[in-house]
Amino acid sequence: MRLGPNDARGQGDRRQEKASAVATSVKVHGEAASRSTVAGTTMTNVTHLECSACATHHAAGQLHNLCTVCGKPLLVRYDLARASRSLTRDSLKSRRADMWRYREVMPVENDANIVSLGEGWTPLLHARRLGAAVGMTELMIKDESLNPTQSFKARGMSAAVSMALELGARKLAAPSAGNAGGALAAYAAAAGIEAHIFMPRDTPRANVVECEQTGAHVTLIDGLITDCGKEIARRKDAEGWFDVSTLKEPYRVEGKKTLGYELAEQLGWRLPQVIVYPTGGGTGLVGMWKAFSEMEAMGWIGPERPRMISVQAAGCAPIVRAFEAGATHADEFPNAATVASGLRVPKAIGDFLILDALRASGGAAVAVSDEELLAAVGEIGRREGLFVAPEGAACLPAIRKLLERGEIERDEQVVLFNTGAGIKYIEAMR
Ligand SMILES: Cc1ncc(COP(=O)(O)O)c(C=O)c1O
Ligand SMILES: [Zn+2]
Repeated sequence: MRLGPNDARGQGDRRQEKASAVATSVKVHGEAASRSTVAGTTMTNVTHLECSACATHHAAGQLHNLCTVCGKPLLVRYDLARASRSLTRDSLKSRRADMWRYREVMPVENDANIVSLGEGWTPLLHARRLGAAVGMTELMIKDESLNPTQSFKARGMSAAVSMALELGARKLAAPSAGNAGGALAAYAAAAGIEAHIFMPRDTPRANVVECEQTGAHVTLIDGLITDCGKEIARRKDAEGWFDVSTLKEPYRVEGKKTLGYELAEQLGWRLPQVIVYPTGGGTGLVGMWKAFSEMEAMGWIGPERPRMISVQAAGCAPIVRAFEAGATHADEFPNAATVASGLRVPKAIGDFLILDALRASGGAAVAVSDEELLAAVGEIGRREGLFVAPEGAACLPAIRKLLERGEIERDEQVVLFNTGAGIKYIEAMR
């Protein structure tokens, strides 16, 4: 079952909407390339950026990385009362079928700068057969593999590249476990700007090839994503690169937060009871948590929140360790290793934000072995017909563990996030 903007709306209509969103994006790109001559619409309700740790305000309308006072991530703040005058739950019924439908709570000033390839508005599937196999009635899968470049990273990069274009950055750099690189390469190409991508040498080959084929400058590093980040930090000033590392620039979260808006909309303006999310840098989790606050401030939802569950691989589980130790920050995880390359993030700059959301929601953090998550790829495939990324598959053994521990009830509505496509990881499937 697919839940659309109106439940009655069928798949044919959805495809049509996607097609018209693509047509719009072609027009948008044309305008972006010559935007000085195009009078675009001004629509942002951004008031300022706020440090997530020390609350210092930073001016909107200029490029930012981390807070200049304390070095922590910045979050975008909006005049939500103003946004909600035109962005109403009703108004959404006739909007474009991508993440830019939430236009008033997106950071771009001028429509002409939106770089879109049709990201977002992905299916929310009722996984009946998989649910029955684990003894659950309301297991849902949010299938993010249907995004451009086949992962949820498209949302963050669409927002970040649009803002980079608007604020004048022309050379972007990011470390990537794979999927973020592919998304950055694609959106930079669509914007006509440079992408410099640093990936661990053992990143799945599909990710490397797609970056090359979409025109990015790719450097493979003997090390982890954190080493890739260090290399960018070392070279960026001399090279004139703007660093779009996750949570080190404020707009990828704005793209990812649309996951939260979309989930509420697809469920008829309710939130599920549990969200199970594979966590590396945690941008999606932090983004959804932010979306819930924004929606509550606009009067769309109440104060109830889903229990947020972070899933990590046992070979790289810094958040799980910190959660279990009761710590507010996570130490770097030594000798990080897992086939779920997106989860091989030994140290996340937003660690305290992830841990806050897990605790405030009454959630948990769960580690699963590579053996368990690889077996889950095949099980989800056989039972639901979805060839999911190992990161998304990791949610299944995590759900089983939580059922056993009595932390999830069998009749609760639980959303499993499939963040990417299994086809990119064929080396790992033996
Ligand atoms: C398929 C997939 N899932 C999950 C993640 C982790 O995402 P996040 O950094 O938002 O925690 C990644 C990151 O690379 C990924 O590629
Ligand atoms: Zn600060």
